[in-house]
Amino acid sequence: MLEDRLKAVIRDIPDFPQPGIVFKDITPVLKDQQLSAAIVDELATRLQGMVIDAIAGVESRGFLFGMMLANKLGIPFIPIRKQGKLPAKTISESYKLEYGQATIEVHQDAFAPGSRILIHDDLLATGGTVVAASKLIEKLEGVVVGYAFIISLDFLHSSGRLTRFSDNIIALAR
Ligand code: PRP
Ligand code: HPA
Repeated sequence: MLEDRLKAVIRDIPDFPQPGIVFKDITPVLKDQQLSAAIVDELATRLQGMVIDAIAGVESRGFLFGMMLANKLGIPFIPIRKQGKLPAKTISESYKLEYGQATIEVHQDAFAPGSRILIHDDLLATGGTVVAASKLIEKLEGVVVGYAFIISLDFLHSSGRLTRFSDNIIALAR
């Protein structure tokens, strides 16, 4: 089963980047071409039948599978980046992380108003990142049609923070 394969390969790194955080390291997944392809295939299968105009992925780990998934689905990829990285006109949103504070941005012309956007990130922890991403999408009059994660840290009970945008929340491992 894909979930078992993921759990076997993703490494727990205690006390990174600060004491008390058990960090999920996905870099071993990236070295495994078959497993990486299986992730994209499974996400695409679970999204079948949905009308999605674009995948938005959050820097940096949300870029890795987000672009592959968009490519597989034959739709655009929209990068949501950390502050100061996108060159054209942007809008911003600040949020708290388990281990700090961050601001993310998206280009103002990233998609047309009314576009149906699926948000992808590698991991759901507190939900702060994807809540901020959802606010960016809605500020540009996009519709958040769902979320696709590789890992959800379910013990943090964060998925409830997302349901005001969409209750379509996919996670391949919990
Ligand atoms: C991590 C992870 C998610 C986010 C999850 O990214 O990749 O984007 O934190 O945490 P949350 O649900 O509590 O918001 P990070 O900001 O560490 O950046 P990176 O992807 O560049 O490593
Ligand atoms: N929190 C946020 N991001 C992460 C974590 C975590 O515990 N592990 C890997 N990425």
